[in-house]
Amino acid sequence: MKAYVMHRYGGPQVLHLEEVDQPGPLPGHLLVRVLANSVNPADWHVMRGSPIIARMAFGLFKPRNKFLGGDFAGVVEQVGQGLEGQYRVGDHIFGEALEVGTFREYINVKPSVCALMPHGAQFVSMACFPIAGLTALQGLVTHGKLQPSESVLINGASGGVGHLAVQIATAMGARVTAVCSNRNADFARSLGAQEVVAYDHKPLASHSGQHHLVLDTHGNLGYADFKRLGQRGVAIGFTTLARMLALATLKTIGRHPIAIFTAQPNTADLNTLAQMAEEGKLQPHIEKTYEFAELPAAIAHIEAMRTRGKVAVAHAV
Ligand SMILES: NC(=O)c1ccc[n+]([C@@H]2O[C@H](COP(=O)([O-])OP(=O)(O)OC[C@H]3O[C@@H](n4cnc5c(N)ncnc54)[C@H](OP(=O)(O)O)[C@@H]3O)[C@@H](O)[C@H]2O)c1
Repeated sequence: MKAYVMHRYGGPQVLHLEEVDQPGPLPGHLLVRVLANSVNPADWHVMRGSPIIARMAFGLFKPRNKFLGGDFAGVVEQVGQGLEGQYRVGDHIFGEALEVGTFREYINVKPSVCALMPHGAQFVSMACFPIAGLTALQGLVTHGKLQPSESVLINGASGGVGHLAVQIATAMGARVTAVCSNRNADFARSLGAQEVVAYDHKPLASHSGQHHLVLDTHGNLGYADFKRLGQRGVAIGFTTLARMLALATLKTIGRHPIAIFTAQPNTADLNTLAQMAEEGKLQPHIEKTYEFAELPAAIAHIEAMRTRGKVAVAHAV
């Protein structure tokens, strides 16, 4: 089978499409034929071994796992021992398996990081949900404790995480203020935002609104910004390591409630995303779909961090 393999850290050129052994079925796992992926900032962080401190987890001098990729959607090829009755050969599933590396034709995944796709859903669409959708959902609900009657300010509202967060918060009945560039203002409104702050027209520093929750996906808000803008905050991304360390320190010293978290894949939350998609409440906006053979270009595309929605990858069938 074909797989993207990386033997060293670096730019997208370190990814090579190679012929590797096809995995067999593993007990307690699903052998999946991958039909679509989406790409996320986590992929290029692992690929580049950046920030350097993350190499403690990824591998000090070279990547510990030569396979890259988190999001996938595909078809169950074989059901591992112990999972009979839970899944069937031919089931369409989607999920997140960063530690496995999903940019390949076949993967073995644990059922705890997957869920069934809604009937008739497209593989490419469902592959856009796992990392970005789980992060949006867990940021708003698990960590942000957002309530239907509340207001939420979403910074970075047009990106992968942000555009799904706007839709989820809107579907919950919350009032959304979206922060994005002016070119994406109408896009954010079309997703359900009731107010848009275009940061390149009116700096967020001059926004006087107070919100119940502030969800920062872009990562340029400091402790004082969270305090000024809302009653509680959730930090999802960071523009620099220094910003992350400063926020983590100040939130420990200060009293303003701010959660910093890493999204965890689980079937219950994936089921919630699938159900919202089936009910037409959640839809990924796909800026571009690349072919599997072009996957390094898909990663180069998102490294600019200006994607409207998601970038997907389709495998040939
Ligand atoms: N904690 C976790 O578990 C977790 C999970 C997933 C992602 N993340 C992190 O979350 C961040 C976002 O991920 P993503 O997939 O959504 O990235 P993305 O798709 O590249 O989106 C980034 C967004 O940031 C916006 N942006 C750029 N400059 C901005 C500014 N000055 N103010 C406000 N928004 C600005 C861009 O919108 P415009 O083009 O309109 O400016 C873009 O849509 C990344 O740092 C990623 O590593 C964390």
